[in-house]
Amino acid sequence: MNANLGKFTLQFDPTNQEIALVGKLRPRSPIDMREILGQVRHGLDACKGVAYLNVKRLTNINQTAFHALGEVLSSVCSHRADFSVVVVTSSVISWSATLFRELAEREPNITVQVYDSAFYPGQTFVEDESFIPILRTQTKMTWRHERQMLPRHGLRSGAFVADICCGIGDFATLIHKEFSPARLVALDHSKRSLEYARRVAAEFGLSGIEYTYGDASQMLLGDNLFDFVTCRHSLQIFDRPDLLLRELHRICKPGGRVYITNEKNSHCLGEPHSQSIQWTYNEVARLFSHFDMDVEMGPKSRRFLTDAGFEQIQVESFMVTNLDGDPQDFADMIEAWENVYAGEMAVRRGDTPEFIRKFRQGFRDHIAAALHPKGYAGWPIWAASGRKPF
Ligand SMILES: C[S@@+](CC[C@H](N)C(=O)[O-])C[C@H]1O[C@@H](n2cnc3c(N)ncnc32)[C@H](O)[C@@H]1O
Repeated sequence: MNANLGKFTLQFDPTNQEIALVGKLRPRSPIDMREILGQVRHGLDACKGVAYLNVKRLTNINQTAFHALGEVLSSVCSHRADFSVVVVTSSVISWSATLFRELAEREPNITVQVYDSAFYPGQTFVEDESFIPILRTQTKMTWRHERQMLPRHGLRSGAFVADICCGIGDFATLIHKEFSPARLVALDHSKRSLEYARRVAAEFGLSGIEYTYGDASQMLLGDNLFDFVTCRHSLQIFDRPDLLLRELHRICKPGGRVYITNEKNSHCLGEPHSQSIQWTYNEVARLFSHFDMDVEMGPKSRRFLTDAGFEQIQVESFMVTNLDGDPQDFADMIEAWENVYAGEMAVRRGDTPEFIRKFRQGFRDHIAAALHPKGYAGWPIWAASGRKPF
């Protein structure tokens, strides 16, 4: 925008009455800010009622810029009694809420909102510590299949790889060991999961995985950086999967591939007691949809990738079963599901003790099927990838 400011853009969206400041704002003198301040004032003047100043991706601002911006906001607010400004920050930029709150304390018509403190309905469940054992056992079970499949979807050693919504980082660790990427970024919005991931990496003496706190729907990573971008079991739990896919597409290099995995929980199965198991997993799908999560997304992967602009789409499905390895691993995974789905989510939805008892029974029957000497238990997954056009 201005040579003295570095990389910076300002976008004004009149429909949403939003001014977005993106990049670094580091002027040497207030004169360098003149054009930007003119645009901010112009944008605010065009808004009625409430205007939003989006600083979610403002990665840097110096005192000169902050003072000059503060003066414009205060002056507009003090001249218009019926007007207010909401500054929208993100927890990813840790200083920004504190800084803008200083301004809000001086000017009653300015408020600060941290948009990702509660930004998707399932957040409290999946960012909680109780989800860690689920992710651990799931990755242990799926890796056996995925390590064979990943090269078919385009993963090569020496590639630049990003694992977005990495959870506790087990998948990134396995990729690091098996495929020796030249760069490996693993990003998630759960601070607890990332702490866990960093601790495991340190214990195992693994260096080179760039664990990053971030919002996958608004990443600070640049465009066209990675040959291979993965996002596993996560589009299905975020309520705006299209936003995540747009970001996965943006950070992928032209010619690179984005690889996603998703489930269809109502297709989990087992013998014996197939009916009780079937009933419970139909209810799992309903329970997740109550919290705006779509754990039936697997077969929709082709459509999502197509709509996001990918080409050469490949879709395959596989069934994780009790026969893949130690049946106890399968049973442990189901037990971890039961604890969170029946023990926390159904309770939060307000389900009756009678419903929860029946709901739990299906998980127990699934565990029994997995451990039965003649039993069979399965969990189906859809893995899909698409190429970003040149
Ligand atoms: C079901 S877990 C899957 C984790 C990991 N990919 C795996 O397969 O084990 C979903 C993960 O997505 C993360 N997540 C969801 N929405 C996110 C967002 N907008 N930005 C960053 N992480 C997000 C959650 O914190 C959680 O760790």
